[in-house]
Amino acid sequence: GRKWTEIGNLWEEIKGEVVLIRGRAQTVRGVGKNIAFVVVRERGFTVQCVLTVEADKVSRQMVKFATSLSKESIVDVEGVISVPNTPIKGASQPVEVQVRKLYCVSKALPNLPINIEDAARSEVEIEKALQAGEQLVRVNQDTRLNYRVLDIRTPANQGIFRVQCQVENVFRQFLLSEGFVGIHTPKLMSGASEGGAAVFKLDYKGQPACLAQSPQLHKQMSICGDFARVFEVGPVFRAEDSYTHRHLCEFTGLDVEMEIKEHYFEVIDIVDRLFVKMFDTLNETCKKELEAIQRQYPFEPLKYLRQTLRLTFEEGVKMLQEAGIEIDPYGDLNTEAERKLGQLVLDKYGTEFYILHRYPLAVRPFYTMPCYDNEAYSNSFDVFIRGEEIISGAQRVHEPDFLAVRAEACGIDVKTISTYVDAFRYGAPPHGGFGVGLERVVMLFCGLNNIRKTSLYPRDPLRLTP
Ligand code: 4AD
Repeated sequence: GRKWTEIGNLWEEIKGEVVLIRGRAQTVRGVGKNIAFVVVRERGFTVQCVLTVEADKVSRQMVKFATSLSKESIVDVEGVISVPNTPIKGASQPVEVQVRKLYCVSKALPNLPINIEDAARSEVEIEKALQAGEQLVRVNQDTRLNYRVLDIRTPANQGIFRVQCQVENVFRQFLLSEGFVGIHTPKLMSGASEGGAAVFKLDYKGQPACLAQSPQLHKQMSICGDFARVFEVGPVFRAEDSYTHRHLCEFTGLDVEMEIKEHYFEVIDIVDRLFVKMFDTLNETCKKELEAIQRQYPFEPLKYLRQTLRLTFEEGVKMLQEAGIEIDPYGDLNTEAERKLGQLVLDKYGTEFYILHRYPLAVRPFYTMPCYDNEAYSNSFDVFIRGEEIISGAQRVHEPDFLAVRAEACGIDVKTISTYVDAFRYGAPPHGGFGVGLERVVMLFCGLNNIRKTSLYPRDPLRLTP
C-alpha cells in the first residue's frame, strides 16, 4: 500500500515532500477557471489544498471538479507540501498541499442540515460574525443532536469524546493497578435497586421486570462472592422525569465496590487518589483535545488539590448557614445549595473538587450504613466538581437482618430483593463503594453547561433517536 499521512501531522518540516491524505472537503472555493482551494479536514485538523492549472499536472476539468465538490464529501488528495508566506485562514495546519491528484471517495448531499464550520464556532465568534453582517446560522442544541453524526465532526466534539475515553481508561488502569477486578452485572432486573420511582419497566417473558438503575445490588453480591475489590463500566437506566442540564435517562456508570478493613475512609482514599490521577492524566495527555474544546467553549482548567479536601455534611451546612442560607441540617442539599457550597469551598480552600461525607441517614438509600456513633448520620459521601455532584458512595449494611429492616423502613418490599439480602447470610465482609457518572465527569471537568454535550447519542425524557 501507499504511505498515508494524517492531516494533523502536516508541518513546515516536511516542505517539498509528496503526501497522500484523506479527509472531508470542509470548504470549497474556485477563483476564476484556473485555481481552486479545498480545505480538507481529518479528525478536527484542517489543511488547505490548492489546485492550480499547470501543463500536464492539473487540468481545467480538475479545477472545475474540485470547485463542484459538495461540502463534507470524502476526498483523497496527493500533492506537494508548500509553506505559504501568509498564514492560512480557516485551517489548523500552517502548510498547503499543492494538489497533483484529487479523487472523491464518497459524496455528501449538497445541502447539509449543519454547516460544520458554523457549528464549530464559539459564542464570541458567532456574535462577531453576526455584527460583521456575515450570513450565519446559529445551530441550536436540538438540531445538533438530531444530526449528531454531523455535529460530532467539530473539533470540540472530537475532543470531548477523546477526553471521555481517557476518563474511562484511567478509571480502569488505576483500579486494575490497585487489585480490582472488572465485572459485568445484569441490566435486566426483577426489581429496582435505587428505589422504585425512576425505573423503566418492561415485560420479561410474562414476568414484570425493569432495566438496572445501577449495578448496586450485584456489585455488593460479588463482594460476598469473594472478589474483594470490583469495578464495572456499564449503562445505567433512569426513567428521569426531570428535564435538566445534568440528567439523562441512560448514562454510563463507573462503579466500584470493595472490602473495608477498618473505616469507610478506605473507600474515600480510593476516590481521592483515582481522581487526582485522572485529572493529572487528562491535563498531560489530552492537551490538544482540551484546547479544541476550550476554543469553542471557553473554560478555566479545574482547580484541585494534591490531597482532596474532605468536609463533613455538618461542616458544609455550617458554611452555608454562615453565608445566610437556610438549610435543614438533616435534609438533602438541593442543586442551588450544592452550587453555593461549591463557591464557598472554592473561596475558602481554593479547590473546585472536594468530598462531602457523613450525610444524614434519612436522605441516603436503604443499603447505606448508619454512623456507629450517631444513627442520624451515615458513613456516606458525595463528591463534587465545580459545585455539582459526580459521585455518590458509602459503606453498606452487611448484616442481613438489619438490611431487611432498613429496606422496610425505606418502603421497599424485602420479598423483591430477597436474593440480595440472602447473599449476606453466607458470610459478608464489611464493604463500601461508589458510583460515578461518566458524562458528568467530562461535562464538569470541561466546564460544559449541558450533559447532552458529553453523551454521544443522548437519551433524555424527550429523545430516543438518533
Ligand atoms: O447518586 P446515584 O444515583 O448513586 C448510585 O447509583 C449508587 N448505587 C452509587 C453507589 O455506589 N452508592 O448515581 C451515581 C452517580 C451520580 O453521582 C451522578 O454522577 C450519576 O451517577 N447520575 C447521573 N448521570 C446522568 N444522568 C442521571 N440521571 C444520573 N443519575 C445519577
